[in-house]
Amino acid sequence: MSISKAASGNSSQYTIEKRLQIEHLLSPTTPSENELLAGSDVVKGLTQMPKTLPPRYFYDDRGSQLFEQICELPEYYPTRTEAAILHQRASEIARMTGPGEIVELGSGSATKTRILLDAYKALGYPLRYLPIDVSAGILESSARDLLADYPSLEVHGLVSTYELALQRLTPSQLPSRMICFLGSTLGNLSPQECDVFLSQITEAMDEGEYFLLGFDLQKSKDVLEAAYNDAQGVTAAFNLNMLHHLNRRFEGNFDATQFEHWAFYNESQHQIEMHLRSRRSHIVELRALDLTVELEAGETILTEISRKFDLNTMQQQLQARGLVPLQAWTDQNQWFGLLLCQLQPAESIAVTD
Ligand code: AVI
Repeated sequence: MSISKAASGNSSQYTIEKRLQIEHLLSPTTPSENELLAGSDVVKGLTQMPKTLPPRYFYDDRGSQLFEQICELPEYYPTRTEAAILHQRASEIARMTGPGEIVELGSGSATKTRILLDAYKALGYPLRYLPIDVSAGILESSARDLLADYPSLEVHGLVSTYELALQRLTPSQLPSRMICFLGSTLGNLSPQECDVFLSQITEAMDEGEYFLLGFDLQKSKDVLEAAYNDAQGVTAAFNLNMLHHLNRRFEGNFDATQFEHWAFYNESQHQIEMHLRSRRSHIVELRALDLTVELEAGETILTEISRKFDLNTMQQQLQARGLVPLQAWTDQNQWFGLLLCQLQPAESIAVTD
């Protein structure tokens, strides 16, 4: 673990350096568990039937850029719908939590964070933000942009996986704290992964602290399928880009032209499933993993699930974990949900098996 704080010449830059702390929990010299596992998840996914690939391999530099473009697409409603709800409700959220630290999991470019920071600032609350992201570059550049725009803001960034960062959170320096998990990233976790993740969240929280969750809601198949099959083909490029990333990372020879993007809504599972479908029967090698993969014509590789939730069920599930829903918000179409919860004392949580 290392903490960096750089000094610098001009005074506005200096105040930024004083207000910025970046802690690297993923040391550049010691490989993280994540890196040690890298590749074994690919081998596991490509040797099982049906074949799968972990969605984390979407996000190389190009994949992250493509995802930013997806968020702007006319068909991809989640980002703008969540931002609109936040704009409408941010000051209500700030009044409900009172002054407190804002922790954000998967902060990325921190665009939605500004909506919350503006609301806290308008109420005269002290501003302290703890972004958590595996990408040191994105975390630091977005933190610097925020510090330049909010002169009283303090940022303590954690370059880390969610799991590690949640284990290492020290008690809040302000009267309270709110952990934010926005963008419906929860939907990309399987029900089992979701359970583990929510346990890590509650373990990291102190009684009375807040959890703000943004998640996509169930809706018509047409709207959902359009969002993952956009007319410009950006989502298709995002899906196919995973193959280029794997080639680079594991000395592979995937030929992306031999695959097509295939996304549909599985209504019984309430999830979008995104696949890469092989156009013909062929063999792929990933030399660094000592792996040879045979694909049939038409065979699919599942690259992502994106689960769509029911607002009431989500509230009940969080409540059962001691995360008491204080307020649920949605948009006029009821396409996206935002939920503010508060952790109740452990002894009052109902135990069920
Ligand atoms: C990051 N995540 C919430 C996106 C989603 O909608 O599930 C990822 C995505 N995949 C295709 N389009 C967007």
